[in-house]
Amino acid sequence: MTYRIGYLIGSLASDSINRVLSKALVKLAPDDLEMFEIPIRDLPIYNRDDEYSPGPAVTAFKQAVESADGLLFISPEYNRSIPGALKNAIDIGSRPWGQNSFARKPTGIIGASAGAIGTAVMQSSMRSVLSFLDAPQLNAPEAYIHFDPEVFAADGTVSNESTAQFLAHYMSEYSAFVARVLSSALPGHMGDSDPEVMH
Ligand SMILES: Cc1cc2nc3c(=O)[nH]c(=O)nc-3n(C[C@H](O)[C@H](O)[C@H](O)COP(=O)(O)O)c2cc1C
Repeated sequence: MTYRIGYLIGSLASDSINRVLSKALVKLAPDDLEMFEIPIRDLPIYNRDDEYSPGPAVTAFKQAVESADGLLFISPEYNRSIPGALKNAIDIGSRPWGQNSFARKPTGIIGASAGAIGTAVMQSSMRSVLSFLDAPQLNAPEAYIHFDPEVFAADGTVSNESTAQFLAHYMSEYSAFVARVLSSALPGHMGDSDPEVMH
């Protein structure tokens, strides 16, 4: 079984360290994950007035999110929170009411920072947002990446063996989590809340 995983990069910077991290994660992902980027750069700023007349960038974004088996958020921390561009993308994908594109998608959150706490506060904020959006999250392992340019080459090659092993382990745990969430959503599973199935 192969899972299509859409990844969102929370930085728009051309030399983003989180984009470099995304390249490393794609390289180190297990074979059962097919990784593709869901770009957020061209999205407009969310405006409720436009919810029922979305432009092509919004429609394409929501379709890409909905087409994915799982989602991976790879983001910096801005001012101890979620970067505005990423939060904007999430707000857009969550609406209109009743058409939340993130619902029930198995998600992972990871991020790199030059600072010591490696995006921990951003990740904590993301967990509240994704919980509200009914998106199951990989709880462990957590991955707070202190970015060292000596370790990560621009093409995503990781030169430190223990860092490479840690990231490969993260991706393989994420893959197992996606499989668990998707298999528990199959019709007829004990966790199915459909009363026809429960009785
Ligand atoms: C507006 C802004 C706020 C930032 N706030 C934080 C922060 O709260 N915590 C942190 O570790 N780094 C912070 N940084 C530094 C970022 O970690 C650093 O710029 C990093 O390279 C951003 O990731 P990127 O290269 O993927 O864009 C901030 C940077 C900017 C531009």
